Amino acid sequence: MPPIALPDPPLADARVLLRPWADADAGWLARESQDPLVPRYTTVPEGNSQADVLAFLMTHDALLQRREQVHLLTTEREAGGRVGPVGLHHVDWRNRTAEVGYWTARAARGRGLTSAGVRLLCAWALGPLGLERLELRTAVENTASQHVARACGFTREGVLRDAEWRPGGRRSLVVFGLLAGGLT
Ligand SMILES: CC(C)(COP(=O)(O)OP(=O)(O)OC[C@H]1O[C@@H](n2cnc3c(N)ncnc32)[C@H](O)[C@@H]1OP(=O)(O)O)[C@@H](O)C(=O)NCCC(=O)NCCS
Repeated sequence: MPPIALPDPPLADARVLLRPWADADAGWLARESQDPLVPRYTTVPEGNSQADVLAFLMTHDALLQRREQVHLLTTEREAGGRVGPVGLHHVDWRNRTAEVGYWTARAARGRGLTSAGVRLLCAWALGPLGLERLELRTAVENTASQHVARACGFTREGVLRDAEWRPGGRRSLVVFGLLAGGLT
C-alpha cells in the first residue's frame, strides 16, 4: 500500500490552515506543551523537550509510510500563528477507523480554532483518506475537549471504565464517535 499522502493543497477554512510540523516548530511545541493540561489529557510526556519533539518529528515519515498516524499543526490562516497539533492515531485499515487527538496552546484556546482544525482533519479522514469511523476519547472531567467533540459532530457513545493507567490511578474515558456524514 502507498504511504499516507498529506493533504495537498493543505486543509483550510476561512480561519485556520493545517500544515505539517517543521523543525522550526519544535521549540514552540516543547514550550507550549509545558501546560500541565497537555500531559494530563494527551499522550505528550511531562517535560516534553525540544529534542523530544525533534526526535518524534523524525519518525513522522515512517508513520506515514506504515499508514499508522498523521500529525498536522493547526495555524491561523491570516497571521500564520500556531494554534496546536491535531492528528490521527491508531489508524486501523482493516476496520477503516482511527482516533483523533489534539491540544492547543493556551493563548489560542476558547476561540473555536481547535474545533475548526479538528473538523477539517475529520472531513479529510472520512473523505479522501478513506476512513469510515473516527473516535475521540477524553477524560470524564475534560469538558473543554468534550465541547470540541460535540462542535465537530461527534456523538457521545459511552464511558470506558478505568480505560487508562495514569500515575495517580486508573482513569475512565468518555468515547465519542463520528461516522462519514456526521460532520457538522
Ligand atoms: C481541549 C482543548 C484542545 C480545547 O481547545 P479550545 O481551543 O478551547 O477549543 P475551541 O475554542 O475550539 O472550543 C470548542 C468549544 O468548547 C468551549 N470551551 C472551550 N474551553 C472550555 C472549557 N474549559 N469549558 C467548557 N467549554 C469550553 C468553547 O466555548 C467552544 O464552544 P462552542 O463550540 O459552543 O463555541 C484545550 O483546552 C486543550 O488543549 N486542553 C489540553 C489538552 C487536551 O485536553 N487535549 C484533548 C485531549 S482529548
